[in-house]
Amino acid sequence: MRVGVLTGGGDCPGLNAVIRAIVRKGVQEYDYDFIGFRDGWRGPLEGDTVPLDIPAVRGILPRGGTILGSSRTNPLKAENGIRRVKENLAEFEVDALIVIGGEDTLGVATTLADDEYGINCVGVPKTIDNDLSATDYTFGFDTAVNIATEAIDRLHTTAESHMRALVVEVMGRHAGWIALHSGLAGGANVILIPEQRFDVDQVCAWVESRFKIRYAPIVVVAEGAMPKDGDVVLKDGTLDSFGHVRLSGVGEWLAKEIEKRTGKEARTTVLGHIQRGGTPSAFDRWLATRFGLHAIDAVRDGDFGKMVALRGTDIVRVPLAAATAHIKTVDPSLYAEASVFFG
Ligand code: F6P
Repeated sequence: MRVGVLTGGGDCPGLNAVIRAIVRKGVQEYDYDFIGFRDGWRGPLEGDTVPLDIPAVRGILPRGGTILGSSRTNPLKAENGIRRVKENLAEFEVDALIVIGGEDTLGVATTLADDEYGINCVGVPKTIDNDLSATDYTFGFDTAVNIATEAIDRLHTTAESHMRALVVEVMGRHAGWIALHSGLAGGANVILIPEQRFDVDQVCAWVESRFKIRYAPIVVVAEGAMPKDGDVVLKDGTLDSFGHVRLSGVGEWLAKEIEKRTGKEARTTVLGHIQRGGTPSAFDRWLATRFGLHAIDAVRDGDFGKMVALRGTDIVRVPLAAATAHIKTVDPSLYAEASVFFG
């Protein structure tokens, strides 16, 4: 049995831990061969491979990024993309493909795994955004939350020294999980998420009430958050091959509005890719490793068209289609819970 492995979409801490677990268990327990595909779906599309064996995965457990590389290549949009992927998998004698990715990468796996194309895919959910349905958590999220929390802790002390409002922009395109968790953990005074449009006047009122008691306010805003009477703030107009626009800018915009409306100094820190880089947290190493072990078991069982998922403390298998059917967003009741700390 030869198993292909690829990592697609935005990278996140823990990808290497998954790859290591797949290869270690697959070689040691099942005597499988592995082949790595470079840069997400670009690898199978263009036949670009990398050797994947036990020496290749030695020492990578704590390493951020992915030894396989990643991209947002969409083979469904490429000319003869599906045919080329199928031909390359046949040429490299790949019997099964483990696809580690988020909504877009797994969406491609869902299509390729259906009866029409019949590719033997098993999915592993990853994204720092934690917005994949069917799994309680994705690996990468915990690390991102810890990084954002540490940033908020640091920003509190400098904000206090200068009595400024500091806005922290975190990632989160459609879902505010990173903003909510890091905002709560870091004691933010305002948390703004994509799921609930915000009122700038209300944000300014919270900021001012904080200054009144001689505390410097910290505002955490997810990149996809939108004001009540405006739209999402874009970095530029470019789209990736899955049709997503590049975000970032809402933090800068909001700081300017706060300054204009309150007369108080407001500055912005955009955490950006810092949230995705570096070594995974212990939780993410644990989750990623378990996902890898269960993904290779799904291959051994011939249980294709499935994704491994965390339910409580169990790893279960769910249909790939269920994983990508809808985005897991923050429930209004969870957001309401946090609002006791606003202002
Ligand atoms: O998909 C996860 C994510 O972190 C989003 O929150 C963010 O919008 C996106 O990746 C940015 O990715 P990149 O800069 O690689 O295009």
